[in-house]
Amino acid sequence: EIDIMKRACEISAESYIEVMKSIKPGDNEQEIEALFLYEFAKRGGRFPAYTPIVAGGEGACVLHYIENDKELAASDLILVDAGCEYKMYASDITRTFPVSGKFSDEQLQIYNIVLKANLAAIDAVKTGNSIMEPQMVSEKVITEGLVELGILSGDVNQLHKNGAFKDFYMHKVGHWLGLDVHDVGDKEEPFKPGMILTCEPGLYIREEQIGIRLENNILITNDAPIDLMSEI
Ligand code: GLY
Ligand code: MN
Ligand code: MN
Repeated sequence: EIDIMKRACEISAESYIEVMKSIKPGDNEQEIEALFLYEFAKRGGRFPAYTPIVAGGEGACVLHYIENDKELAASDLILVDAGCEYKMYASDITRTFPVSGKFSDEQLQIYNIVLKANLAAIDAVKTGNSIMEPQMVSEKVITEGLVELGILSGDVNQLHKNGAFKDFYMHKVGHWLGLDVHDVGDKEEPFKPGMILTCEPGLYIREEQIGIRLENNILITNDAPIDLMSEI
């Protein structure tokens, strides 16, 4: 099962790398969706594991945006949440990147906060922990980031305790992954080697039309977690 899921992740990662090369201002979101489906199928992943989300600009702030019908502007970030299914197993990946190929300073600052949250969450995926540890770690990093950005002010621990981040990070850090993209299982079950879950913190600032999420698939082991999306 793990080998099949590794291949699903590899196909998804390779597809991102291919499609990213061709994205340009003026493309329609649904063209990008079609390119992903093509790259998946070319590698043996005929179906997506879920309806792809291809969201330029403010669409990225709508969590399950699947209209995928807008034109991309050069100043937009594009959020793509598109994973293939391979031999009936799911992969689930999100990347957010600039349509023009170059981040603005503000976009980069926010991107780096989400990247830090993603990496910190992955680090917390250890046998014996449960989803609560990456959840908390990601919330803390996002809260710190919101203070750095000047969107929140006050003591980070207190803001975290009060849930002040929830207007900007309003979903959970991840979920089990397997035959289904949101696979079955007790959400808070302690991590054991062989389990696979997603780590997908995000930061969504509607006023700035910026929504950023980074989502990787993580294999739990007795040692360090294995990031099945580390290639991208
Ligand atoms: N693609 C659905 C999710 O990230 O949970
Ligand atoms: Mn996803
Ligand atoms: Mn997910």
